[in-house]
Amino acid sequence: MLVSATEMLNKARDGKYAVGQFNINNLEWTKAVLLTAQKLNSPVILGVSEGAGKYMTGFKTVAAMVKAMDESLGITVPVALHLDHGTYEGCYKCIKAGFTSIMFDGSHFPIDENVAKTTELVNVAHGLGLSIEAEVGAIGGEEDGVIGKGECADPAECKQIADLGVDFLAAGIGNIHGVYPANWEGLSFETLAAINQAVGEMPLVLHGGTGIPDDQIKKAISLGVAKINVNTECQLVFAEATRGYVEAGKDKQGKGFDPRKLLAPGFDAICAKVEEKMRLFGSVDKA
Ligand code: 13P
Repeated sequence: MLVSATEMLNKARDGKYAVGQFNINNLEWTKAVLLTAQKLNSPVILGVSEGAGKYMTGFKTVAAMVKAMDESLGITVPVALHLDHGTYEGCYKCIKAGFTSIMFDGSHFPIDENVAKTTELVNVAHGLGLSIEAEVGAIGGEEDGVIGKGECADPAECKQIADLGVDFLAAGIGNIHGVYPANWEGLSFETLAAINQAVGEMPLVLHGGTGIPDDQIKKAISLGVAKINVNTECQLVFAEATRGYVEAGKDKQGKGFDPRKLLAPGFDAICAKVEEKMRLFGSVDKA
């Protein structure tokens, strides 16, 4: 059931668990995430970066595929289709295409411009029943060409953006997209606690979910994080499972080259990874 992400995240924040945002890249990814959410009776957010949207031939294609798949698989758990790290123009494209949620990443604009653009998009999104995420303080690392320095967000700026009426807020707390370097210092819980205090009841979003140790995930949830984004980890398990299949020569046995067979181990690996994360985040049976 396609819905905005507002209600599921408010419930998560109140119930002290987090809903996973799993980024999708193609049909296999989408099907794996939807079926796992349904199996575990968990709400879920399908994240689509601008790069992934372009790869799938545009947001219109993505929205049509997700809507049709949600119906044909008989998915009854709440599913939000969400633009990840959207540009101003990208937000409008997704609104038009039928997404149920958008993220406007204005973190690289001076705060005044971020405020002006966010205010406008909040009004448009809410007028159409969509939820909207904003970002303060860049998330480190690189995701689909979006490069961030990884600074910690200023709690006062978080409050300023939260007060514009966004539904949930991503704030940099030392998190990084992609695999964490060996010398990573961990999440800044001091920053997270100050932001949580500043924004009141607003659900907070933790980007860069790949590779964050379980105890830090749990502590982040206890300090107001209600949405956790995972992308790279699904890509890594998909690649590893596919490599295993090919290296074992299975694509050369019988009709093992059939894409439905070739991509099956990767598909299963994504299902297992999504299940592991939903259990860790505590969203199982919360649909
Ligand atoms: P990872 O690729 O590090 O899991 O981050 C995902 C993310 O934050 C998407 O916005």
